[in-house]
Amino acid sequence: AGAAGAYSDAEILAMVDEKGGKYDPKIYVDEALYRLELERIFARTWICMGHESQIPKPGDFTTAYIGEDPVVVVRQKDASIRVFLNQCQHRGMRICRADSGNAKSFTCTYHGWAYNQGGDLVSVPMEKEAFGGCLNKAEWGPKQARVETYKGLIFANWDADAPPLDEYLGDVKFYMDIMLDRCEEGTEAIPGIQKWVIPCNWKFAAEQFASDAYHAGTTSHLSGIMAGVPEDVDITQVAPPTEGLNVHLENGHGCGLFLRNPMFYMTILGPKVTEYLTTGPAYEETVRRLGQGRADVHLCHTNVFPNLSFLAGINTVRMWQPRGPNEIEVWTFTVVDKTAPQEIKDEWRRNTSRTFSAGGVFEQDDGENWCDIQQVLRGHVAQNQKFNIEMGTHTVTADNPEGFPGLSFAYTYSEESARGLYRYWTEIMTAPDWPAIRRSQQRPLAAE
Ligand code: FES
Ligand code: FE
Repeated sequence: AGAAGAYSDAEILAMVDEKGGKYDPKIYVDEALYRLELERIFARTWICMGHESQIPKPGDFTTAYIGEDPVVVVRQKDASIRVFLNQCQHRGMRICRADSGNAKSFTCTYHGWAYNQGGDLVSVPMEKEAFGGCLNKAEWGPKQARVETYKGLIFANWDADAPPLDEYLGDVKFYMDIMLDRCEEGTEAIPGIQKWVIPCNWKFAAEQFASDAYHAGTTSHLSGIMAGVPEDVDITQVAPPTEGLNVHLENGHGCGLFLRNPMFYMTILGPKVTEYLTTGPAYEETVRRLGQGRADVHLCHTNVFPNLSFLAGINTVRMWQPRGPNEIEVWTFTVVDKTAPQEIKDEWRRNTSRTFSAGGVFEQDDGENWCDIQQVLRGHVAQNQKFNIEMGTHTVTADNPEGFPGLSFAYTYSEESARGLYRYWTEIMTAPDWPAIRRSQQRPLAAE
């Protein structure tokens, strides 16, 4: 048996049959595989903690998760950021129980051990009397994670051998910039993180944001799109766009994008934000910064492996926090260009709440599908079938618009980046360490 106990490495690799165009839905339900995901994926890759603007001042903190491990994310006096395990090393209680705030120190509620903003253990009640000088406080602070940022997003990683964030993200940065780098000042997060629980595996959400434009044209989102069509517009113009790309990137990242279809924005974000994104000085600045090609991407769905997704254009950012194989907490917030007029920021917030939020119309469509699949997979026979993942294997093309990196399928309906995600999943799940993960990534990306 391999590292998963129940499964050998060969069995895990065989769960995704890229060439055969099928894969094994046990990856969504199996408890042993899930424990291995926490160890080999979440404890070794760069996980998003949120946005820098959520903790602007020294002492500002949020609590977050790396997989199921709770962490505290704190802005330091020197403006750097620390991320440490939210676990007191005395008996394991949470060091910080609030979602966010500002603190000079963190005091464990169980027996009162206190930690400074950096997570160092600085005070122990009755230390002299109770420990008689045997306690070396310097040794008993919580485990610290590596921390790096990319254009406002904060990432943390437990693994000392993991590549730097910049290298780990690689070419997905090119697509992240469509949302994060439209203007000189970058983005800010609209205050508040929405959090809710739904009963499905985290990979349904991650894969959809990496790869699945296909669902938008079916029942899934069509009614929401139609409902947003302005009265004076011919509804036949508003078919979900198929001009675009499905992009398979290294390290399991993936994205898909729509080109030249501002009407699609219009139906989701309304006329004001559409105008802001597609004409005028903000648009011109984006053309200067990113080039015409990216400035004219109208919606880009992306997943940064493993569990950070966003929709550039709609600007919803989400972390799919795993809670066992059968459940996730969805954490979302919205980012806006820092220099956008207040009226546009307000409009963006309202429209994202209406579409992609706990009560959002598109969110309901997506979540309903993921949760229903998860329920079907409770069945013994259902778990032992294979799922199809063939779409777009017939022509993977490399003729991207100039400068667009990745292996692409020149049509929005493809599962090339889903195949990339699941293939990477098999590689990282069976690799003992980062050198082995890097070696597996040296194989060519093309569907052989
Ligand atoms: Fe934190 Fe005892 S568990 S002080
Ligand atoms: Fe969707």
